[in-house]
Amino acid sequence: MVLPEDPKYALKKVDEIREMVDNDLGFQQAPLMCYSRTKTLLFISNDKKVVGCLIAEHIQWGYRVIEEKHPVIRSEEEKVRFERQKAWCCSTLPEPAICGISRIWVFSMMRRKKIASRMIECLRSNFIYGSYLSKEEIAFSDPTPDGKLFATQYCGTGQFLVYNFINGQNST
Ligand code: COA
Repeated sequence: MVLPEDPKYALKKVDEIREMVDNDLGFQQAPLMCYSRTKTLLFISNDKKVVGCLIAEHIQWGYRVIEEKHPVIRSEEEKVRFERQKAWCCSTLPEPAICGISRIWVFSMMRRKKIASRMIECLRSNFIYGSYLSKEEIAFSDPTPDGKLFATQYCGTGQFLVYNFINGQNST
């Protein structure tokens, strides 16, 4: 875990990784709320490569994703295809939240090995000293289709919290 008060070389590395993650995500990411209060988790492989990155920030509010009714879906592939095609909507009602996941990324060859899940578990026990965050206290910044499939599985519901979406005045 890299914290804002860590040595410059560590922060520089985090910046480089964030830039690479943003490029990989392929679109302009929302800027971090308050740079001095972010926590970055890096997942390092046995051969000392960064294969996962999670950047978390303090937030106050999240908005619940509104689950759309799925058409009758038979296979996992159909579910993934459907999820990739559709936009997501969320409630305009703010709900209290504590931790915003600004970025979550796993190296493509290492996906589906529970690396993202392990990084969130680690985040939940380290974001606030002495407390373990519940899944209800976490929100995801403007999730990608992969992020949505992951968050739905991790949170055990498609109605997880999101923040940082662009919606006229409602960008948090
Ligand atoms: N399609 C369908 N289900 C998925 C999924 C996907 N692409 N990614 C995760 N899940 C679900 C699965 O149920 C998975 O469990 P399973 O593999 O036993 O079926 C469960 O979530 C846990 O996934 P996990 O292995 O912990 O996630 P990961 O390490 O593969 O990382 C992401 C998930 C989203 C971080 C990764 O796909 C990624 O880096 N994507 C590109 C960047 C991105 O879009 N980030 C999200 C920003 S909001």
